[in-house]
Amino acid sequence: DQVSLDIVPVAGRIGAEVRGLRLSGQLAPDTFQALQQALYRHKVLFVRGQQHLDDAGQEAFARLWGELVEHPTVPSKDGTWLLELDSRHGGRANSWHTDVTFEVDYPQVSILRAVVIPPYGGDTVWANTALAYDELPASLKTLADQLWAVHSNHYDYAATRIEPDAHGARKYQEVFTRRLIEAEHPLVRVHPVTGERTLVSGHFIQRFIGYNTQDSDLLFQLFQNHITRLENTVRWRWQVGDVALWDNRATQHYATNDYGDQHRVVRRVTVAGDVPVSVDG
Ligand code: SIN
Repeated sequence: DQVSLDIVPVAGRIGAEVRGLRLSGQLAPDTFQALQQALYRHKVLFVRGQQHLDDAGQEAFARLWGELVEHPTVPSKDGTWLLELDSRHGGRANSWHTDVTFEVDYPQVSILRAVVIPPYGGDTVWANTALAYDELPASLKTLADQLWAVHSNHYDYAATRIEPDAHGARKYQEVFTRRLIEAEHPLVRVHPVTGERTLVSGHFIQRFIGYNTQDSDLLFQLFQNHITRLENTVRWRWQVGDVALWDNRATQHYATNDYGDQHRVVRRVTVAGDVPVSVDG
């Protein structure tokens, strides 16, 4: 029998809360299968009240989805696979991105746990890159299908950031960019599970291949505007113990940096992905 989860959509086009589920590495196979189906459908899932999860528990749950991968340049939190984003040390991911697209086979799933959350501010917003593609006019789809872009971890963070803690942010960026990593991806990939076409964009795009900087910027804005339209997003107000997991092959996200010097800590673990397949195979 198919397990049915208690799933409550949070917004019209992306994002759902899963209620009454205790995440762990020991989820029953049919429960895990139902969770997978929910993830591919809603793109990002939120599970509140997971205070029982420690770092090891978060990793054990993540391993159900596949092999874990560490961030290529930021050292993991001591002895774990977790990337810790601490606002006091520049860990503020406040521009639109898909995780680690500067890698050739960037992660398929990311799992984020809220450890310290300010009383207000610090929400995260996700966008649906499958619907963004689907709703493009036919002629733009044709253009998108043909575009390829260079993604790099050496993008211009400073241009998009307002940093209350500029020193911490600079140090973090030094670690983040200590080694240049680049990958070429098609702008449109075919999702290996759902078959949907999704847009591979976000702040790691440095330029579109065959276009000069000015045209690349305009193309980037054109597609990003479709992706980040408010109707195409969901915004999550965190509580300590919340877990968000997203399909990194079908979403972008943005951590709102509106909480000043209040403290915020989240820990992320990512699951190994695959090389994107373009519409031409
Ligand atoms: C991330 O980019 O994975 C972090 C999102 C967040 O801090 O909410």
